[in-house]
Amino acid sequence: MSTIATIGTARDRLDALWGRGRDFLGTELAVMGGAMTWVSDAGLVAAISNGGGFGVLACGAMTPELLAQEIDATRALTRRPFGVNLITLHPQLDVLADVCLAHGVHHVVLAGGLPPAPVIKQLKDGGAKVVCFAPALVLAKKLARMGVDALVIEGMEAGGHIGPVSTSVLAQEILPEIRDVPVFVAGGIGRGEAIVAYLELGAAGVQLGTRFVCATESRAHPNFKRAFIRASARDAMPSVQLDSRFPVIPVRALQNEGTRRFMDFQRDVVERFNRGEVDQKDAQLEIEHYWAGALRRAVIDGDVENGSLMAGQSVGMVTREQPTAEILAELVSQAEEALAGRYGYAPAPARGETGPVLALAGAAG
Ligand SMILES: Cc1cc2nc3c(=O)[nH]c(=O)nc-3n(C[C@H](O)[C@H](O)[C@H](O)COP(=O)(O)O)c2cc1C
Repeated sequence: MSTIATIGTARDRLDALWGRGRDFLGTELAVMGGAMTWVSDAGLVAAISNGGGFGVLACGAMTPELLAQEIDATRALTRRPFGVNLITLHPQLDVLADVCLAHGVHHVVLAGGLPPAPVIKQLKDGGAKVVCFAPALVLAKKLARMGVDALVIEGMEAGGHIGPVSTSVLAQEILPEIRDVPVFVAGGIGRGEAIVAYLELGAAGVQLGTRFVCATESRAHPNFKRAFIRASARDAMPSVQLDSRFPVIPVRALQNEGTRRFMDFQRDVVERFNRGEVDQKDAQLEIEHYWAGALRRAVIDGDVENGSLMAGQSVGMVTREQPTAEILAELVSQAEEALAGRYGYAPAPARGETGPVLALAGAAG
């Protein structure tokens, strides 16, 4: 049994653990609300930031004009920091970057492939901090060398587009090696205990997406939210590729009629290709276009049978619609309880109480 005195509260310890992430984001909590196309609009982003986290607007395929409007709309709802997520494949990436700079966005997250060096430079020269996804250690090192200010490592448990490696393995491979820039861990995080675990492995903070889909402030259609509330972890599956000649980008989503039909669709395209009725390029394009507009159909129109229900495995921990502030508070109190149970930190004082508390460790045995 330990007799070492533990000074401070569990919250003090949590704040120390994610201090680097809080400083980087300028927030109370080092929790990023991962940008979700069609879901992360001004309402949800402002709610996350107002709750102490860091909301990130999803630009998706928006035009520069629309992005500018959405940034203004977010700013009208919150005075706290928030970021913008740009997809590197967007044909007007540099114009979108200028929109972010012109609107005083301090953090830009570049997603969807290795970001072009000129855009990183453009954003940094304009005074923004650049955050990029690192799917492997070599790329994490390369991105750090390219001058990005922070990294997100996202495991295959996540919702939406995924890589092949799990969050726990990415964290072990990358966190001990990357010290120069803060690293945020994403994918499969549904509770505060998991947040503590990744912080203790060296993460500066975390990013969650799935957990915020059913926030009261989320614009997702009631059918979309209902599908999340009903689903368990095993319902959130990666898309399946039928033929090695026709690659399918892995996307994790809830299984529905659309995902089942996708198999028949690929079979039909491959058979037509084998009969020489369509060339390889067109066949590949047909497969890629199958999901065009499908996320919007599910999130906005509520067509949960034919649309894309992008969701991470943490969907099993989404059990009801809740205000964003409540979701964040729940994550923090779970993190504090984990620290209190593990090391004997005193539980958080009621709001308004201050000052360090001395507690004897050993409660955990
Ligand atoms: C419906 C949905 C849409 C998403 N859209 C985007 C996106 O546009 N850009 C992006 O970088 N990540 C996107 N993501 C990933 C999230 O930003 C976040 O990194 C991920 O959800 C974290 O894993 P989790 O779902 O296990 O919490 C999306 C995720 C979901 C569930």
